[in-house]
Amino acid sequence: MAEAVVVRATGGPEVLEYAEVDLPAPGPGELLVDVTAAGVNYIDTYHRRGLYSKDLPFTPGNEGAGVVRALGPDVADVAVGDHVAWAEVAGSYARQAVVPAHSVYPVPAGVDDETAAAAMLQGLTAHYLVTSTYAVKPGDTVLVHAAAGGVGLLLVQAAKSRGGKVIGTVSTAEKEELARAAGADEVIRYTETDFAEEVARLTGGVGVAAVYDGVGKDTFDASMTCLARRGMLVLFGASSGPVPPVDPQRLNAAGSVFLTRPTLGHHLATPDEFRWRCEELFSAITGGRIDVRIGARYPLAEARRAHEDLEGRRTTGKLLLIP
Ligand SMILES: NC(=O)c1ccc[n+]([C@@H]2O[C@H](COP(=O)([O-])OP(=O)(O)OC[C@H]3O[C@@H](n4cnc5c(N)ncnc54)[C@H](OP(=O)(O)O)[C@@H]3O)[C@@H](O)[C@H]2O)c1
Repeated sequence: MAEAVVVRATGGPEVLEYAEVDLPAPGPGELLVDVTAAGVNYIDTYHRRGLYSKDLPFTPGNEGAGVVRALGPDVADVAVGDHVAWAEVAGSYARQAVVPAHSVYPVPAGVDDETAAAAMLQGLTAHYLVTSTYAVKPGDTVLVHAAAGGVGLLLVQAAKSRGGKVIGTVSTAEKEELARAAGADEVIRYTETDFAEEVARLTGGVGVAAVYDGVGKDTFDASMTCLARRGMLVLFGASSGPVPPVDPQRLNAAGSVFLTRPTLGHHLATPDEFRWRCEELFSAITGGRIDVRIGARYPLAEARRAHEDLEGRRTTGKLLLIP
């Protein structure tokens, strides 16, 4: 037996139960890993609430790092004792997790397991958003919502490293300071100021080349008005709630703009793509070009508190559960 967080019925943070579960066995091509840190991501709250459906019961979590404890059949290139990190693998809020060998990346020398766990899902997301969804070019101005969040802080740094100018939005003075320290050129407190008016002022009425919007319902309409002609609205999440259906004619009225709703899984489509994005991410980390901020660590048994803090907008950077 081993301990894990289990959801038996969808609902609020109180449905996150810490329980004894059967020790999983790795099948062909799989690894059994002793989890040293599990990443908390906003998508975990959508799964917990049932916004994205999953078969019950389930163990939440899609990201982590740890030490390989046993190999299933047909595993090459990974050995017992290796430190590995993963994203997009279900069931990570656990002391032990079964992870497909093709979904792990070796934790590089000079990087600790916590940093690796913290970097994977949100770091790979920031990477694909600025390289593949709207590829930021030198001289572009882009708007990043929730710029002090887990994805937000990494996205600001990734856009800056490609030569972009970044306008960030945040809700508090503490978050403003963090967004500026990550490199944001301008920061708007969107809970106090009309961010669309402020973006128009800051860009001399031109608008931004892209808006990276993971907030969703509360920001979507105004985000569209922030775009320059033929700009791109990258809707990549819904921390304030899902966006209602959109009339395509609005894209014309806003200046022949583009709307996309991308997801990480489609950007780790092959082993080569996964390796390429991980290599770029970790070389930026070891080279000091990207700082991974761990905002809080919680014991695994306190996953509920982590979700309450995340949904209560009380967090910055990455949240980790430590078994
Ligand atoms: N599509 C993908 O591939 C992909 C991958 C990873 C994450 N995501 C999405 O990216 C977004 C950010 O994820 P994350 O894990 O890094 O979370 P996060 O940004 O660390 O946390 C959410 C933040 O959203 C802001 N927010 C605005 N309105 C909110 C509301 N009503 N309730 C709660 N938060 C609100 C808050 O920042 P302020 O207090 O500053 O407003 C809050 O701290 C999420 O929507 C997530 O689903 C998408």
